[in-house]
Amino acid sequence: MSELVETLKSAIRTIEDYPKPGILFRDITTLLGQPRAFRRAVDELVHPYAGDGIHKIAGMEARGFILGGAVAHQLSAGFVPIRKKGKLPHEVVSIAYSLEYGVDEMEMHKDAIQPGERVLLVDDLIATGGTAEGAVKLLKQMGAEVVAACFVIDLPDLGGRRKIEALDVPVRTLISYEGH
Ligand code: PRP
Ligand code: MG
Repeated sequence: MSELVETLKSAIRTIEDYPKPGILFRDITTLLGQPRAFRRAVDELVHPYAGDGIHKIAGMEARGFILGGAVAHQLSAGFVPIRKKGKLPHEVVSIAYSLEYGVDEMEMHKDAIQPGERVLLVDDLIATGGTAEGAVKLLKQMGAEVVAACFVIDLPDLGGRRKIEALDVPVRTLISYEGH
């Protein structure tokens, strides 16, 4: 195991049977609470894009706000919140996205992105890819150039990476849990 993988995995807590029986929940609150691990995760998310002319980071509510905000600060980029339905006060564009069971809607302010802006999508984890797929579609609809989608954790068995790559957006993840 590389030093990076060990640092991150040892900082992430795994909770069995949450939120329902049979699910192993990867809890990043313990990583966020450890200064060294939190900085390391953010540094690793940032480094391929330093000097790459990223205008904005888009982060998905809620956990994507925490990591995305830190990444935006470090890249001196703006931050665009992609929120669950009904939370944004100005004119929005919305899209339905698939959850494990059922669908929900996410929204972004219409004026949050200018056409041609280079945007990096950030979230804590990619599982089925439904959340990231919705976000990429919203960003592209507003004319963004989505440079990449970055996550701390990949659950590769759930196939999210392929869904995002099929939209011509490269995916970068720091660690993965097989068999989730
Ligand atoms: C979790 C996680 C990702 C998403 C990944 O968010 O933070 O955003 O699920 O799943 P997917 O790839 O199958 O779409 P969740 O919707 O649980 O909400 P939260 O971030 O508000 O906790
Ligand atoms: Mg989330």
